[in-house]
Amino acid sequence: MLVFIDTANIDEIKASCQYGYVAGVTTNPSLIAKEKLPPDEILNQICALVDGPVNAEVLAEDTAGMVAEARELVKISPNIVVKIPMTGSGLKAVAILDKEGIKTNVTLIFSANQALLAARSGATYVSPFIGRVDDIGYDGVVIVSQIAQIFDLHNINCQIIAASIRHPRHVTEVALAGADIGTIPFKVLDKMKAHPLTDIGIERFLSDWQKSIK
Ligand code: E4P
Repeated sequence: MLVFIDTANIDEIKASCQYGYVAGVTTNPSLIAKEKLPPDEILNQICALVDGPVNAEVLAEDTAGMVAEARELVKISPNIVVKIPMTGSGLKAVAILDKEGIKTNVTLIFSANQALLAARSGATYVSPFIGRVDDIGYDGVVIVSQIAQIFDLHNINCQIIAASIRHPRHVTEVALAGADIGTIPFKVLDKMKAHPLTDIGIERFLSDWQKSIK
């Protein structure tokens, strides 16, 4: 499973890119709204920092509006992937954009059937939202596992981005469930790096070394 960072914050992206594990970025309108810079400027800066896919979402709700926004977004950089919400209008936009060679990520997916339709419409990626499903008392990881099985069984060439990840256990679970990509918030990436036994191990190695120096 590849690791994407789920943020529009330039400092978080800069810091994370140094580790070498970030293969792409996902943003959404809520994440962009939290930042001070204009959206285009944010996306320009992110694209300059990251070689992999940079996901930017459309705001229009009608097909023509989504297609027009998508065509503008891809002018920013060749690594832009356009996030389209999982609606009927969204799927029509995906079908048009696919024919134009524009990569799409169908977002706000909450069921395997939605993912199947998005993939068959021509989506490059689908984004099932794990945390939001858990929030209402169901199991988000199960949806990732169902989508992975369906895509595998039917040779569907569409990548699964597990989104709305809230904690490190989600990451392990979606990786095991067959997600191609996990898009992970900065704070969760930080928690994934840490283990108390690693810290204790380093301390012990250093103190044993010090004791041996005569
Ligand atoms: C990423 O593509 C999604 O927009 C994001 O992971 C949603 O996360 P949230 O449910 O924590 O807002």
